[in-house]
Amino acid sequence: MSFPTERPRRLRARPGLRHLARETRLAVEDLVLPLFVQEGIAQPRPIEPMPGHAQHSIESLLGEVESALGLGLRSVIIFGLPLEKDAQGSQAWHEDGIVQRALRRLRQAFGADLTLIADLCLCEYTDHGHCGLVDGDRVDNDRTLDTYRRIATSQAQAGADVIAPSGMMDGQVGAIRAALDQAGFSDRAILAYAAKYASAFYGPFREAAGSAPQFGDRRAYQMDPGNAREAVREARLDVAEGADLVMVKPALAYLDVIKRVASSVDVPVAAYNVSGEYAMVKAAAARGWIDERRVVREVLLGIRRAGAQTILTYHAKEVARELPCWTELG
Ligand code: PBG
Repeated sequence: MSFPTERPRRLRARPGLRHLARETRLAVEDLVLPLFVQEGIAQPRPIEPMPGHAQHSIESLLGEVESALGLGLRSVIIFGLPLEKDAQGSQAWHEDGIVQRALRRLRQAFGADLTLIADLCLCEYTDHGHCGLVDGDRVDNDRTLDTYRRIATSQAQAGADVIAPSGMMDGQVGAIRAALDQAGFSDRAILAYAAKYASAFYGPFREAAGSAPQFGDRRAYQMDPGNAREAVREARLDVAEGADLVMVKPALAYLDVIKRVASSVDVPVAAYNVSGEYAMVKAAAARGWIDERRVVREVLLGIRRAGAQTILTYHAKEVARELPCWTELG
């Protein structure tokens, strides 16, 4: 027999065969579109480092969701930005808070066609910008859980299908599950930000959400980027506390973590392709340094290949628009 006997290139030479042999595919149902709603504005305000995204008014949010649904997307995650912030973050659970109003309007307008995920955190609502209640210079885990319970209940009442706690407090999933069940919302799911790292990739988001901490940083509650085994522990704890889906965040510098988590738990795994990851692609593409379509496809395929079934991404709308033509990229 002549060398080589194995010829993997056979599967690559013909486009049809290449498609047939592809192991990982992306579908529009895999994507969740993150959206920001700002209280007290009449017009959307573009977010400079996140081209194509804006802080929305309730009206412009409705338009944005309508166009997303028109492109075949089904799921959005909503971040509320209140006018008034205080030490307790009291607008986060107010019946007429911005996120509650937005959720109610979206539910009314789109019914069951839309999967409504509510981000649950305090950093957008507190004047100090931390994700929990502050006692001196530390975040008080257990007092924060009481507040998270209230927020979860109010978000479910307003129509959220899924509550997504992102504050990285210990026990947050269990506390929220108990509160939801007690209030009669045992049918609402929890998407746990299980392994959320203390990352510089959140830079543009903090600008978009006005949620940068006013003192210190988030290292006392978000994870150390050096740790991967710990992510498995966090994910397992969240599943034990009742998480229906678990998330790893950010995505690109943590593909190994996605893989480990996916092989360690048996609930669906999501990954958050965060604001800084989006901004890098947009900035390089604007200078003509990269081919944006190809790069976005490669990024999302990479996250799927690592083991995430669901991807939260600011690219969701452009991808939904492009997906039908992606085969032409080979
Ligand atoms: C905090 C929260 C953050 C993001 C989602 N929820 C920021 C943070 O922890 O500072 C980041 C999302 C992104 O960067 O796209 N509630």
